[in-house]
Amino acid sequence: MKPKKTSPTTTPKNTKIGILDSGVGGLTVLLEITKIIPHADIEYIADSSHCPYGAKSPTEIQHRVTTLSKQLIKKGVDIIVIACNSATIHAVESLRSSFHIPFVGMEPAIKPATLTTKSNTIGILATEASIAGEKFHHLLNTHAPANKIKVITQPCPKFVTLVEAGTITGTSVQKAIHEYTSHMILAGADTLVLGCTHYPFLKPAIQQTLGNNINIIDTGNAVAKRTLSLIPNNQTTNNQTPTINIHTTGNLNHLISIFPKLCPSLIQSASLQQLITS
Ligand code: DGL
Repeated sequence: MKPKKTSPTTTPKNTKIGILDSGVGGLTVLLEITKIIPHADIEYIADSSHCPYGAKSPTEIQHRVTTLSKQLIKKGVDIIVIACNSATIHAVESLRSSFHIPFVGMEPAIKPATLTTKSNTIGILATEASIAGEKFHHLLNTHAPANKIKVITQPCPKFVTLVEAGTITGTSVQKAIHEYTSHMILAGADTLVLGCTHYPFLKPAIQQTLGNNINIIDTGNAVAKRTLSLIPNNQTTNNQTPTINIHTTGNLNHLISIFPKLCPSLIQSASLQQLITS
């Protein structure tokens, strides 16, 4: 009688999630993802040498995120989260048709804002590229028709510059908040949408400046939930310690200096690395 073959016991691999953004803004999404998917391995790319995407053309944005997606796929990711509204608006379709891997995108939370507002006036803070996008206008026409909701849009490039510099509190932040939001509040907006992933780093400062009567909405948590929904159940929990690699195409020393301010909870677990792209 032949001896019974015993199959070697293989520990299930952690799911590996790729995340990309024009810079460190997508870390706001990474923080939400690690809260609800603590066992995933993460490869994050901050394209800080090409930030801001908000001032770039759709073609330039598509080119950058295609390059970054190839890098993430080389690192063996199972899924890619485009933690950037501008890139989702201009490139998610082309990425989905170019690569055979699931992509999670994100868009400004216009619908939730229209369901929350009592004054029927909402402010949408997003990049210039997002606001110019066809997808953005489609979202507006679908969820916030002009005869029902007054929408005030505002690009906030200084917010991106501040966050990339690691400045999330202080006078320069307050000045920028006033510059970008005062007219919205004067016009009666009671709900603000943070339609760029850099902006949630300034949420505490914005809330403090505008007061608690203003409802501030962002989509990080919803994107994390959507990502979780794409991961097979058996891969969400196992005993392998997850790895979190944060790559920057920008200056690594700068990232090392600002990271503790942006992600204090990840100082011990994240490894910061340089990435060279063509
Ligand atoms: N964080 C990005 C977004 O969500 C873009 C910021 C920028 O590079 O302009 O749109």
